[in-house]
Parts: sequence; structure tokens; C-alpha cells
Amino acid sequence: MLLVLLLFYIIVVVVEAVAWQPELRSFWEKESSKDDAGALVRAVRLELKRSLQVYPQLKSRDEAWDFLSKTTQRREDYVLIMKNRVFVDEAFIRIDKNNRHLQFVYSVTRVRELPDVAYLINRFAFGDRHPYPRGPPHFKPPCAREGGGDVDFELVISKYHGYEQCGVLIPNMYNFNELAKWNATTRTLAKAAKIRWKERQDLAFWRGQILAQDKCHRDHGNYARWQALALSRRYPEDLACHCLDGKPCKFRNDTKTPCVDLPYDETMRALHEEPREHHSEPMVGLEEFANYKFLLNIPGTISGSYSRHLNVLWSLAAVVLLWDSPHVEWYYPALRSGVTHVSVSAASVRDVILRLKNDHARAATLAYQAKRVHDLFLCADCVAHYFHLVLHAVAKRFALATVFDDNNSLVDDNNSLASSREKRKTLLRQITKNDLLDDDDDGGGGVDAKTSSVSSSRLLEVRFSSDPETIVPPSKSTTKSTPYMFVRRVAPTDEGGLAPTSEDFRLADWRPGKGA
Ligand SMILES: *[C@@H]1O[C@H](CO)[C@@H](O)[C@H](O)[C@H]1NC(C)=O
Ligand SMILES: *[C@@H]1O[C@H](CO)[C@@H](O)[C@H](O)[C@H]1NC(C)=O
Ligand SMILES: *[C@@H]1O[C@H](CO)[C@@H](O)[C@H](O)[C@H]1NC(C)=O
Ligand SMILES: *[C@@H]1O[C@H](CO)[C@@H](O)[C@H](O)[C@H]1NC(C)=O
Repeated sequence: MLLVLLLFYIIVVVVEAVAWQPELRSFWEKESSKDDAGALVRAVRLELKRSLQVYPQLKSRDEAWDFLSKTTQRREDYVLIMKNRVFVDEAFIRIDKNNRHLQFVYSVTRVRELPDVAYLINRFAFGDRHPYPRGPPHFKPPCAREGGGDVDFELVISKYHGYEQCGVLIPNMYNFNELAKWNATTRTLAKAAKIRWKERQDLAFWRGQILAQDKCHRDHGNYARWQALALSRRYPEDLACHCLDGKPCKFRNDTKTPCVDLPYDETMRALHEEPREHHSEPMVGLEEFANYKFLLNIPGTISGSYSRHLNVLWSLAAVVLLWDSPHVEWYYPALRSGVTHVSVSAASVRDVILRLKNDHARAATLAYQAKRVHDLFLCADCVAHYFHLVLHAVAKRFALATVFDDNNSLVDDNNSLASSREKRKTLLRQITKNDLLDDDDDGGGGVDAKTSSVSSSRLLEVRFSSDPETIVPPSKSTTKSTPYMFVRRVAPTDEGGLAPTSEDFRLADWRPGKGA
């Protein structure tokens, strides 16, 4: 009898202990104060440091100039921050996702003084200049440029294949693009999270959309979603996973795109064939998620990478169940399966739920730890703090203070202020130079570029406000609360700074969701 019990115990434990791919085991094995908030923060900082050390430490001012010059050549990707003001090329704002990132950056400048810095933002969960994740999720491409050569330094919002991919992680531009709004949302969620444990439903909740990707290596997230729906159909007393009314709920045509490792089973096929109302439910407010004990997160629909959903789940004092996946976000180094969340797969999720249903103390501890992840990393001020930290580290790694510091007093005993100014002017001319007037890209700037830039600089300063009157002359039809994006053209001054070219404030025709 004892032996049977023991065997049962071993099986249950084995089933539950689905290893979570991104877990930083080497860090947590060494860390002595495992439960200390300081350890969680250290884990995140250490990975920030490690990911930055992939790029050579720059030392001299010349190296820093080269870095800036190279960075600003990627017009669709670079952001320049000077004196806590945000500048981009006009090519940048044509991309919706970029503008959401700008909105995020601008909202951080409202609460923090950011260092002078220039960086490239990578809009994708894999480097677009680096090998595309063609392999299965466990494939680990090195941080190397396709075709060889140096890898450009980039900030990335997620890494599809895990930490080793290129770039430094920063928060995504969806949950956090308006920090003040996120701040308010988290307050609402904190209130909702106060619901008593025993009043919550004993179910693993998930509700979202499902897309279909016609490439197998990109369809993992959608497949996992169908798996969750199928499990929910089989075990409705344990899982409540449904598509969202009015949102896509699609499946891959597996005659056209068969995927060996993503086979649809009978339940899934039955779901595909029935009217979708049978497996769809209406949208609910985020605070209603707190009515459940278990909140399931499933990888994203585009390439099985991050899901915006997850960033909300930590705050609800529920047990977070993370569908295992190699992708990472900026705070993942702090996460440990069995401590902050439980890693699950289609094969294990039901057993995990059943076990936690019978172990209130353990479930309550996991719920508490999840809330702590929110309080340490996802609160509005935490997000601002982390971004500030990243930009400081970037400025240091690439010696940017040697360029941006007006006085250069710490840099060079020789009176190099004038020459630095010249160089700065040259750079600014180079990045404000308008292609229409001057097509050659020799990077030299020059008199022509300077004179033309006064009227047609392509460098824009970006700001956001929900109140059009604070930035532009009154406009009658603009009273909604979502911030509007404002841009104005700026051109180099004789002092090596940037000034608006004229009255040229204009309301860009961009608001979230309305982008190009
Ligand atoms: C969030 O709200 C708190 C309380 O009102 C405020 O002190 C803090 O500065 C806000 N943070 C951000 C990032 O908006
Ligand atoms: C799936 O693809 C096959 C082959 O291209 C096609 O014949 C079939 O009509 C498609 N099925 C659906 C439901 O679109
Ligand atoms: C830079 O120069 C300005 C004006 O000359 C001065 O006020 C400021 O303190 C200087 N900063 C440093 C870091 O030397
Ligand atoms: C500084 O000036 C001295 C004397 O003019 C010169 O020999 C030296 O090379 C200069 N150093 C730098 C770093 O420019």
C-alpha cells in the first residue's frame, strides 16, 4: 500500500514538474536568498548585463561617434533621446508599432529623466537582421548576422528562441504604451484581486483569439490555443478556455499546410467543424479574470512568442499557469516554475490543476508570488524604472556620454569642446539631411545639407498629449482621451543642438490602432 502511494506520489510529482524552458537554472541554483525580492531583481539585472556584454564595450569618443552614425543610418529603426526629448526620422513614424513604442518612451520621459542615448528598436520577437526563426521553437540560433558581419545593437520586446538571441529586452509597446493609463489599470486590477480565494471559480481561465499561420514554425501558439480549447471541451470542470466573440478563431488548413509536430486530434477537428459560437464567449473586463483561481497564458498567435495577455495576469493574485515555450520577456529571469508560476503543457495542465485544487496552501503561495512579480516588475513605475536602467546601461556600454556631454570636461583635458561641437553638428546634419534633396549617403553632411535641412529636415521631435491644445492650436473635433501624436521638424543649430525649424507643429494622423 505504501509503495503504491509512493509510486502515485512520484508519478504526480513527475507530471507536475514540467521543466520551464527559459528558467535561468544556473542563476537560481547559486542564489542563496531565493525568496528575497532582491534576488529576483538581481536575476533581471544580470541578464540585462549579460545581453549587453555581447556587444563590445566602446571607450573613445570616436567609437561613440561611429556608433551613433551607424545607428542613425537605420532610419526606420532608430530613436534618439536628448535632454529627455524624443527624436526620430520621419521614416520611423510610418510604422504603427514604432509609434506605440514612441508613446511608451514619451510616457517614461514624463516620470523619469532619461539619459541622452540613441538606439535601434527591433519591432519583432526575433531580430529582423538576424536569422529568422525558421526552426522549431527549441532551435537556438546564435546571435550572429545572416551572411556574417557585426550585429547591430538593438532593443527587443521579446526573444522567440530564448535569452541567447541578440538584443536587450525591454517592455512591449502594447500593454505599456501609455504608462499613466497602465498605472490606472493596475489600480483597478489590484482592487479586483482582493476577491477571496474561496469565492473564485476552481477553473483555469483563458479567453482570446486564434489565428492561423501557414508556416508550421509560426503556428505553435495557435496550436497550443486549440489544444487548450480541446482540453476545456473534455474537462469543463477544470478548464474554461474559449475563443472571443467577434475576434478571429481560425485553424490552419492542414491539407494545405500539414505540420508533423502540430497534428489536430479528434476533439480539435470537432471544434473546427462545429459553429464557432459553441466554443466562443463574450469579451470580459480584465478585472473579471480575478474571479478564477488559475489563469492560463498561452504563447502568441503570430509566432508563438509573447502574449500581451500575460502582463496583466500577474497582478490578479491567482495562480499563473505558463504554457511552456522558449520565448522570453524582460522580467522572465526572475521567474521559476513551481515558485512564481507553474509551467504546463497540454499533457500536464489538467493534472497540475487537479493537484492545486487539492492543495490550497500551495496554490495560495503561488498566487502570492505571482502578485509579487507584478509588484516588482510590471507596475507602471517598475516599467519606467527598468527602461531607465536599460538606457543608462546602453549609454555606458557605448560611451555615449563622451558625445552627448556638452562640456566634455570629463572626457578630454584638451579643449575639445569646439571640435566635438563640429562633429556633433556634422552628425546632426547627416541625420537631418533629406534624401529628396541630397541622395548620396556619404554621411559627410556639408553646407548643402545644412541649408536644405532648415526647410526640409527629416528629423522629427515627437510628443504625445490627449489635450490637443497643449501642443497645437485648438482643434474642434479632438476631445478623446487617447493621446494624439505630435511631430515637428527639427534642424541643427549653430551650437550643435536641435531647434524647431518654424511654427511647424503638426498633428500627425496617428492614434493607437489607426496607424499605417
Ligand atoms: C502612478 O500613480 C502613482 C500614484 O498616483 C504616482 O505616484 C506615480 O508617479 C504614477 N506612475 C506613473 C508611471 O505614471
Ligand atoms: C484546404 O486546402 C485544400 C488544398 O489546398 C483545399 O482543397 C481545401 O478546399 C481547403 N479547405 C478549406 C476548408 O479551405
Ligand atoms: C557645463 O557648462 C555649463 C555652462 O558653461 C555649466 O553650467 C555646467 O556646470 C557644466 N557642466 C559640467 C558637467 O561641467
Ligand atoms: C592634447 O593636446 C596636446 C598638446 O596640444 C597633444 O599633444 C595631444 O595629442 C592632445 N591629446 C588629444 C587626446 O587630443
